Amino acid sequence: MKAGIIGTGHYAPEKVLTNADLEKIVDTSDEWIRTRTGIEERRIASDNEDTSDLAYMAACNALEEAGIKGEELDLILVATVTPDQSFPTVSCKLQDRLGATHAAAMDISAACAGFMYGLITAKQFIETGAYKYVLIIGADKLSKITDWTDRNTCVLFGDGAGAAVMGPVSEERGILSFELGSDGSGGKHLAEENNHIEMNGREVFKFAVRQMPESSVHVVEKAGYAKEDVDYLIPHQANIRIMEAARQRLGIPEDRLAVNVNKYGNTSAASIPIALSESVKNGKINDDNLIVLVGFGGGLTWGAVAIKWGR
Ligand code: ACO
Repeated sequence: MKAGIIGTGHYAPEKVLTNADLEKIVDTSDEWIRTRTGIEERRIASDNEDTSDLAYMAACNALEEAGIKGEELDLILVATVTPDQSFPTVSCKLQDRLGATHAAAMDISAACAGFMYGLITAKQFIETGAYKYVLIIGADKLSKITDWTDRNTCVLFGDGAGAAVMGPVSEERGILSFELGSDGSGGKHLAEENNHIEMNGREVFKFAVRQMPESSVHVVEKAGYAKEDVDYLIPHQANIRIMEAARQRLGIPEDRLAVNVNKYGNTSAASIPIALSESVKNGKINDDNLIVLVGFGGGLTWGAVAIKWGR
């Protein structure tokens, strides 16, 4: 039995915060932010919109695309580092709101790599035959833990949610290979301290610019393909320079790289599923395309998959 993605969804809050807006809050410039990160604007959730609300919107969108009802779900996994509260979990709140009366529910905490951890966990349940349909959501409201006086971090992040429904697909399609990893010794470079994000940007950059290209190549090789066979690369949207490094390592042209960091900034666990959902809806991904999803995050953590698209 092969596990694949059968529906995708995403949601971004309405409020747009531009680089020009940030120039009024901290000592920064649109030019610095754009050239160092590729970010032009990001979305910020309203005070009465919490992580579970963002997650719910993305989930409904993905269930609709998959043609699956809440009660058909066996498991709900929510990757987040900014849950509404530590318990009840965001996944339990969704279980109720989606009417997923037969589903187990748990949150996964692996920062920006959380959605990758969710996908790969879901794959195991489906391929053993234990579960049929799993809903995986990456949702974060990083604005809750952003230090709006720290120009080193506040320009980087945004709020959002993305989702995927996974289920059994035909033998030659679905997730062909995966890689997951962690390195707790690097945890100090990116951490939540006193309810704020603390980051050593240069260290995280060095880690990411090595790990994302390496993991991308590994999953393609494990799947039995050559690097240039990759039809579309969907990396974690943290910084255009890190994403470009992964694209160049695969040796694929620019139009095969999914980029939305300019519109949303780094939305943590939401970034890969938002980019995936937008790519599906924009017709960038078609049946039998070879897709690579790859992410890295605080922990440190990372994960990648190679997927043959289609049901
Ligand atoms: N505006 C203007 N200047 C700034 C800003 C800003 N917003 N932020 C930092 N600077 C200054 C610094 O003070 C520093 O000045 P100094 O040299 O006088 O001390 C200088 O710019 C920093 O320059 P660089 O270190 O050369 O900047 P760099 O090219 O490394 O870019 C960045 C910094 C964008 C943070 C980069 O290191 C990066 O993207 N790192 C990875 C971050 C990341 O991906 N984090 C998310 C991880 S995922 C997760 O789990 C949340």
